[in-house]
Amino acid sequence: MLPAELIASIPAPFQLLLIGVGALSFARFLFSYLRGLVAIFMLGGTNLRKYGKPGTWAVVTGASDGLGKEFAHQLASKGFNLVLVSRTLSKLETLAAELEEKYSAKGLQVKVVAMDYAQDRAEDYAALAKEIDDLEVAILINNVGQSHSIPVSFLETSPKELQDIVTINCLGTLKTTQVVAPIMARRRKGLILTMGSFAGWTPTPYLATYSGSKAFLQHWSTSLAAELKPQGVDVHLVLSYLITTAMSKIRRSSLMIPNPRNFVKAALGKVGTGSYQTAPSTYTPWWSHALFLWIVEKTVGPMHPITVSINLKMHQDIRKRALRKAEREAKKN
Ligand SMILES: NC(=O)c1ccc[n+]([C@@H]2O[C@H](COP(=O)([O-])OP(=O)(O)OC[C@H]3O[C@@H](n4cnc5c(N)ncnc54)[C@H](OP(=O)(O)O)[C@@H]3O)[C@@H](O)[C@H]2O)c1
Repeated sequence: MLPAELIASIPAPFQLLLIGVGALSFARFLFSYLRGLVAIFMLGGTNLRKYGKPGTWAVVTGASDGLGKEFAHQLASKGFNLVLVSRTLSKLETLAAELEEKYSAKGLQVKVVAMDYAQDRAEDYAALAKEIDDLEVAILINNVGQSHSIPVSFLETSPKELQDIVTINCLGTLKTTQVVAPIMARRRKGLILTMGSFAGWTPTPYLATYSGSKAFLQHWSTSLAAELKPQGVDVHLVLSYLITTAMSKIRRSSLMIPNPRNFVKAALGKVGTGSYQTAPSTYTPWWSHALFLWIVEKTVGPMHPITVSINLKMHQDIRKRALRKAEREAKKN
């Protein structure tokens, strides 16, 4: 039977139903594509003033370097006072002095809390709680994180490295949020951003523990977002591929690898623009990362065995290159 005869043999009401279903599916498909493109290239995020006027406070963890340091700079420029939390007191004090001088006209106030998240000490969290007790905290940036020093198979990962990654990335973020979020819930407004990673979005062999820790943060953050929404607190996970920091060990920026300044500008400028993504309360601020994520989510998917095997090969190659580099450096010394 020819296709035209086949169609003619279908009763007219059923033909109309099929056309209706087809048109609806196509419109849905088109809408989801347009929504993604508009969010990635055009939409601005929630204005940070929603969470607090100038002079309210932002708490930034892992603040002494990389993205945390950049978050501190850009939040200060927007008029937020800062509580900087990180491991090395001297680096925190230097940054605090630099910021206070740069933003003296705005009367910027900066407090520092030095703590090693890997130690998981109750007294450190108590000290942080005491420091912020009477502050109007508007924003929390859960940025502190550690990855593997180089890609490594799980069986070769040292017990200390895996313990530190889970303690810093997971427990550190949870316990800091338990200290800070009640202040926001009392104010009935606030913003909590937590640094996720593409390694948590798609399973990443040879960074298995880091990948698991960031996947943990995805579910935790999305759950928390639903819990705190009625109390006026917005919670988002921030997804990213590589950025030029000490952690990535990449110095030169490129189309896919922004520098901290541009990444953080996008992270603070596009809060809450991830409605096209699979995971709720999650956004991918840097445009090329977002485009990549969107294409993968619309096609093969981040959980597909093909995606995981490409990721495996990529990280095995990075490991080989890192080992060769270490060998060359050892010979030089
Ligand atoms: N860079 C990337 O390519 C990338 C990609 C996706 C997601 N991320 C995520 O983004 C976040 C920031 O990464 P980054 O690249 O900016 O890292 P980074 O340059 O290595 O900076 C890490 C910051 O965290 C602090 N820190 C590390 N371990 C600590 C500990 N045990 N206790 C207290 N503070 C500690 C460091 O303090 P000290 O200065 O004292 O060492 C530093 O201020 C992390 O959560 C990371 O997983 C990064």
